[in-house]
Amino acid sequence: MALDQFLTALDSMLGEARACLETVDSAEALEQLRVKYTGAKNGELKSIQKMLAGIEVKDKPAAGKRFNEVRDGIEGALEQAAQRLGGSSQQESAGPAFDPTLPGLRPRLGTIHPITQSLEHLKEIMGRLGFNVTEGPEIEDPWHNFVALNIPEDHPARDPLDNFYLATAKSSDPAAQTTQPARLLRSQTSTVQIRVMETQSLPLRIISLGRVYRPDAPDATHFPMFHQMEGLWVDRNVTMAQLKSVLRLFATSYLGGDVNIRFRPSFFPFTEPSVEVDYWWNGQWIEFGGAGMVDPNVFQAVGIDPEVWSGFAFGLGVERLCMRRFGITDIRDLYRSDVRFLRQFAT
Ligand code: PHE
Repeated sequence: MALDQFLTALDSMLGEARACLETVDSAEALEQLRVKYTGAKNGELKSIQKMLAGIEVKDKPAAGKRFNEVRDGIEGALEQAAQRLGGSSQQESAGPAFDPTLPGLRPRLGTIHPITQSLEHLKEIMGRLGFNVTEGPEIEDPWHNFVALNIPEDHPARDPLDNFYLATAKSSDPAAQTTQPARLLRSQTSTVQIRVMETQSLPLRIISLGRVYRPDAPDATHFPMFHQMEGLWVDRNVTMAQLKSVLRLFATSYLGGDVNIRFRPSFFPFTEPSVEVDYWWNGQWIEFGGAGMVDPNVFQAVGIDPEVWSGFAFGLGVERLCMRRFGITDIRDLYRSDVRFLRQFAT
C-alpha cells in the first residue's frame, strides 16, 4: 500500500471522528463512537493499524508516527466529549453511583477511657463529701516534690534512679548552670498539697487528680505512669477519725457496699501518724493508697501554725481502684490503646 493512500485514510478518519465527537449528545452515542474507533476487535484504528503491515519498509517510520498522532487525537476528542457530557449523562447509563437502599456505614464512635470515667466518678463522690477539685503541674521542682513534704536532701526517695529528673537546658554560663533549678516529673500528687497550702486560705478541703511518674518496670500491677487522687483537709481540730470516715465512705461509694477496707500503720515523711489503706479483692489485701495526719514540719514549710491548724492527707492509686471496679487484672491493658479492649467499658 502506498504511503499517501495510508495517510489520507488516517486523516479522513480523524476528521470524521472529530466531527462526530463534537456533536455527540448522549452517553450512549458516545460509547458507540468509542467502540467504533477504538474498539479492540473491530475498531477503525485497529483495521488501519493492520494496513501498516503492507507499507514499504522505508515509509514505515513516517506511517507509524502519523498513526500514533491520529490515535492520540481520537482519544483526546473522546475524552473531551466525555467531559462535555459530564457526570449526569454518564450516570444515566451506568446507573446511580449512590444507592440509597444499601445499608449505611456506621461511623465508629469513640468511648470514654475507663481511667477518665474513674477520674470523673471520683470527683463526683468527693464533691459530695465537700472536696473541691484542684490541679497542679506534672513537671515539678524538688521543693514541691520533696523539700516542703519533709523529704530531706539525703532521703532515698530522691534517688535519680527512682525519679524522672529532666535534663536541664545547657548553658555556657557556669553561674547560670548552678542556679538552674532541677526539674522532675512529679512522683506523687502530694506536690499539690503544698501548692494549695501556699496559695489558698484556711480552712480548706481539696482533692487533686492527675498523672504521676516513677521509673518502674511495667508488669501486671506497675506502670511508669499512673494516676493518683490526693486529698487534703485542713481545719481546726481535724482528726484521724474523720480521715477514717472519709476513706471508708469513699471506698463504699466507689467500690460498693460490700467492700472491706483496712488501715495499717505505716510511715510517710509528710504525715504523722501514717497509715496504708488496703481493700480486699480476689482473696488478698490490695494496697490502694497511703494517708495520715499532716506532719507539723509540712505545715511549717508553708507557713501554717501547727498549734492552731490540723489536717489529714491521703493519696490513692486511681488505676487500682479503676481495675477493681471494672474487673481489669493487668494495668498494661489500660495503656495499650487497643480499642477492642477499651470499647468493652463504654458507658
Ligand atoms: N504520696 C504518697 C504516695 O505516693 C501517698 C500519701 C499521700 C500518703 C498523702 C500520705 C498522705 O505513696
